[in-house]
Amino acid sequence: MSTHAPDTPASYLVLHSQHTSVVLECRAHEAPLWRYWGPRLPDGCTPLAPLRDGRAIPPSSMEFDQPLSVTPTLGVGWYHQSALLAHRTGQQFAQQWTRCVLKHPSPNSLTIHLHDEVAQLQLDIGLHLSADDVLSLHSTLHNRGDNALGALDVQWLAAATLPLPGTAQQVHYSSGQWANEFWPHSDLLGPAQQPGGHGTALWVRENRRGRTSHDSFPAAVVTLPGATSDSGVVYGAHLAWSGNHRQCIEWLPDGQYQWQLGEWLAPGEVLLVAGESITTPTVYACCAVDGHNGLMQRMHRQVRQLQSWPGQRMRPRPVHLNTWEALYFDHTPEGVEALARAAAAVGVERFVLDDGWFHRRHSDRAALGDWWPDEGKYPHGLQPLAALVQSLGMELGLWVEPEMVSPDSALFRQHPDWALQLAGRPLLTMRNQLVLDMARPEVADYLFERLSELLRTLPIAYLKWDMNRDLTTAGNALGRAAYRGYVLAWYALVDRLRNAFPLVEIESCASGGARLDYAAVGRTHRVWTSDCNDAASRVRIQRGALQWLPPEILGCHIGPAPAHTTGRSQSLHYRAGVALSGHLGLELDVRHLPTAELEQLRAWVQRYKDWRHLLHGGTVWLGEAGDGVVWQAHGSADELLVLVYRTEQTTHRYTPALRLPMLDANAQYRIERLDPTPPEWTSSPLNDAALATETTALPQAHGGWLQAVGWPLPRMLAESALLYHLARI
Ligand code: GLA
Repeated sequence: MSTHAPDTPASYLVLHSQHTSVVLECRAHEAPLWRYWGPRLPDGCTPLAPLRDGRAIPPSSMEFDQPLSVTPTLGVGWYHQSALLAHRTGQQFAQQWTRCVLKHPSPNSLTIHLHDEVAQLQLDIGLHLSADDVLSLHSTLHNRGDNALGALDVQWLAAATLPLPGTAQQVHYSSGQWANEFWPHSDLLGPAQQPGGHGTALWVRENRRGRTSHDSFPAAVVTLPGATSDSGVVYGAHLAWSGNHRQCIEWLPDGQYQWQLGEWLAPGEVLLVAGESITTPTVYACCAVDGHNGLMQRMHRQVRQLQSWPGQRMRPRPVHLNTWEALYFDHTPEGVEALARAAAAVGVERFVLDDGWFHRRHSDRAALGDWWPDEGKYPHGLQPLAALVQSLGMELGLWVEPEMVSPDSALFRQHPDWALQLAGRPLLTMRNQLVLDMARPEVADYLFERLSELLRTLPIAYLKWDMNRDLTTAGNALGRAAYRGYVLAWYALVDRLRNAFPLVEIESCASGGARLDYAAVGRTHRVWTSDCNDAASRVRIQRGALQWLPPEILGCHIGPAPAHTTGRSQSLHYRAGVALSGHLGLELDVRHLPTAELEQLRAWVQRYKDWRHLLHGGTVWLGEAGDGVVWQAHGSADELLVLVYRTEQTTHRYTPALRLPMLDANAQYRIERLDPTPPEWTSSPLNDAALATETTALPQAHGGWLQAVGWPLPRMLAESALLYHLARI
């Protein structure tokens, strides 16, 4: 008999998707208990017995059991991370949900209304399991008390509390920094698996940079023993939020884990007065029974559902030229014009004018906020350039960084109070800039007007929307922490602009890849994956980003050699082969390339145009052949493009075979090599015949053989790429 919940019968809520199931144990007087989230159970399969009061209480424990619920709280005697940390001026610090009303609007959707009559709170949890195995969850907390009870100070509200099986072995996540995003890491979980060993019983990742951040992508993958790229059980979760965040995985004494994800809130940031509420971001989670690739593929499909395209359909992704690394701030009408002509000549379809075009923007030390063309550089405005770009058959894109203000700008001189700041403390700049308090209506209106003016008067098809600093001392005019309000205001501004200019595409850039979460990509059409265009780094960065984002939205540019961010050089062949897999662009000065290189570049741009229908929108598989060779395949089991990269010098005498597990074992495939033999392969006196002469002709092969044994790859130089086309015969 429980002391806290009347003895009421349990009902089980069972949700099935194609490959997974969710089972909750529900009662009218408490939050539903997690019974299962994992590989699909047979129809009609329900728990043996209720968990509530169904298991023996261990010695030295409270007299009532506390199994993991969808929202565990301190008030039920929960010792572990609570899904809610809140108080009313020190009172009501421990909540307990004592009334539960379930609404089940469709077989796979559920709303759980929970009430705490003592603390006078209501929590609504929305839960949906898609047919494609993605479980999405979010919560809304309402302050139902009157003002006499005091405002509710919310320190933490989990967007989701998920169960993970005790057999979970490792958590995989990424860290990073500017121009070096998506470093892969793995930690062992424990102590269930490693008694006294190396696992961590409480794994935590936090981000307090105010934007999604380079260094802590808001997602992780948890693997069960034996999981591989294509088999085994893999759990993943992502918090769709572009600001501060926290996630923790905690081992529980009943041999499972709880996984919570949510916003990290600054002190006093969320104070709910009577009648107010807070809604968390959405968590997109998935249990895949077909390994890392299975998880990635479902997440790609989820992102594609979140996105909305002008005209409701993604057009073939146009080849960009972005002017940043060709010009930096050195814009002259003649120079930009020459760059546009050279870009059009190699097949570029969208010319993106990056930083340096607006009033007094001659370096990164001034001008953010003053969004009109620089009178010296563009004496007749941007119209002449726009007309030229259009006459060359290209679209025009424009770089903006609306959320920022330079202390040295007309805007700041007029409105110094518009910047987020703390009274009496120094203004902390980063890249010489401050962040605008966009939650103030007059600031949002100013930005909307300035951007609207540009979009109304120029044929701009695309905005590269940048955001080049973290939020530090982000206090608003009331002296309160404004991180959360800032993110919501950014969403509102982008949504407002998209409504007003529905044909304009937007890229989410934040010093490269610092704002790539699902809330950002759901509002935009492309991300600038990284400021690093060094192909050797890009292979890793892009593969990390691909785990969560589909290839067609990953901006991947062919940069110069040596790369500006690393000083390293790779052949054009490698740089192009690596950039080809995403949304292709050029980030180099095509005005000054030798003719032979221009020819190669033109051929690569054409190759991308010929194959982008297969590169984008389909299924992606990532794999490793071994000995420093990695590959990725895009398309379907009927037709694939396979990109092979040798990232390291070989340590084997023979290159490993490439096995493709996704092929139909009973079909025949034609294999064709699409890339030309790179010039450095034929010109190197040390190369052996195999390296130089391996050409396009490969026999047709049996899918079963390619799955089990694979085909032999030619010898490859370090940092080289191959591109194959496979089609079912
Ligand atoms: C950021 C972006 C770059 C470029 C510069 C311009 O660093 O990531 O691509 O646009 O800003 O200042």
